[in-house]
Amino acid sequence: KKPPARKGSMIDVPEELIEQIHGLETIFRATPEKLQAVTKHFISELDKGLSKKGGNIPMIPGWVVEYPTGKETGDYLAIDMGGTNFRVALIKLGGDHTFDTTQSKYKLPDELRTTQHPEELFAFLADCIESFLEEQFPDGVTGTLPLGFTFSYPASQNKINEGILQRWTKGFDIPNVEGHDVVPMLKKQLAKRKLPVDVVALINDTTGTLVASLYSDPDTKMGVIFGTGVNGAYYDMVKNIPKLEGKLADDIPANAPFAINCEYGSFDNEHVALPRTKYDVMVDEQSPRPGQQTFEKMSSGYYLGELLRLVLVDLHAQGFILKDQDLTKLNVPYCMDTSYPSRFEDDPFENLENVAEIFEKDFGIKTTSPERKLIRKLSEAIGLRSARLSVCGIAAICQKMGYETGHIAADGSIFKMYPGFPEKAALGLKDIYGWKETDPKKMPLRLVDAEDGSGAGAAIIAALAEKRLAAGKS
Ligand code: GLC
Repeated sequence: KKPPARKGSMIDVPEELIEQIHGLETIFRATPEKLQAVTKHFISELDKGLSKKGGNIPMIPGWVVEYPTGKETGDYLAIDMGGTNFRVALIKLGGDHTFDTTQSKYKLPDELRTTQHPEELFAFLADCIESFLEEQFPDGVTGTLPLGFTFSYPASQNKINEGILQRWTKGFDIPNVEGHDVVPMLKKQLAKRKLPVDVVALINDTTGTLVASLYSDPDTKMGVIFGTGVNGAYYDMVKNIPKLEGKLADDIPANAPFAINCEYGSFDNEHVALPRTKYDVMVDEQSPRPGQQTFEKMSSGYYLGELLRLVLVDLHAQGFILKDQDLTKLNVPYCMDTSYPSRFEDDPFENLENVAEIFEKDFGIKTTSPERKLIRKLSEAIGLRSARLSVCGIAAICQKMGYETGHIAADGSIFKMYPGFPEKAALGLKDIYGWKETDPKKMPLRLVDAEDGSGAGAAIIAALAEKRLAAGKS
């Protein structure tokens, strides 16, 4: 009789599956050398993005031309559209580096991601704002509430209260929005409902994260999101952003700080640096925007479950796993969101009973213990690669700016919920820099929990925009 298997033991896993597991771990591995090479290429791509000619990475100037002082005050409405939920918040900026938030979350109906009618999307946003205002101001609003609109897609701006969508990301695909300014689309729906709201700023979630965190922590160097998408923002200096030339009013000096929303999810669209597997190629080809967001498709939350699913379906087709099982349900694209790999990694049981239950309940599939161990190892490999790759964007910005110490304010569902993600990401940074320190809390560039970018950040940026406007500045 065999001794009982130890925790995490592979004793019951047949040789054939062990080989598959090793193969998968190899193709999903991101070695220190690879990460360093990716970062090096990343830096040159960031510079191209800032040049007049532009490059793959959009490097979008965010029209936030000062640092927050922490003294900004007032009541602001903030709305946040960009991932799975839509959020409306009332933010009271305290003027002493603090703020208060009251908010409601609304699930963005899945069909709105790909509706044929853009006005349906903006009508939904306006309806949510209306019901939020009714709740918070039963006696009505006095005057008008300034609103900061967090719109987390690549949107070009020639001023702070504008956002011309370059292209949808994260699985959104709605016609007649790309190439257009989304602010009037929202305003139209607000006006229809006669809501006492004035859209004063449009921001990216990363820029909001940067500014909100800087409001309370002066060591903040970047705002980054590891969520449905992956992206980062930082302050550069006007004179280092060649593509701004000729676009600035005289009141903005050459040494003024200027927030840049990198949109680095689109890094390596030319496919020269990242170690893509055949599954990454499949995710890309089956997406509504093939050839775009290469970096994001390998690392962000929207795609991790889908990568896992594609591998499992492939191994089944090759006859390695789930023999005699009906895969009808598992064959549905995107039926596994990131909560799946995340829960598979979290299962505390030796024989992964939670994984077994999830497969039975959600997909009508009976798994064997060895199959579940493969699923677990695969989830770990995909999650680890995501954490390690996604910090290359951070290392690239910090190396470009010469930052050797400081805080990287991080937010997003993956950063907050995926098991061990912050630690894995920190160790990825360590491997890029070659630091000796192994404690994530003591690394020279440290990933810290961000302040609420799309809430407080949007409010602070709205406050800065109003102040500039009142002073007659651009
Ligand atoms: C996608 C969007 C970007 C956003 C990121 C995180 O990359 O294009 O604007 O910041 O997701 O939400």
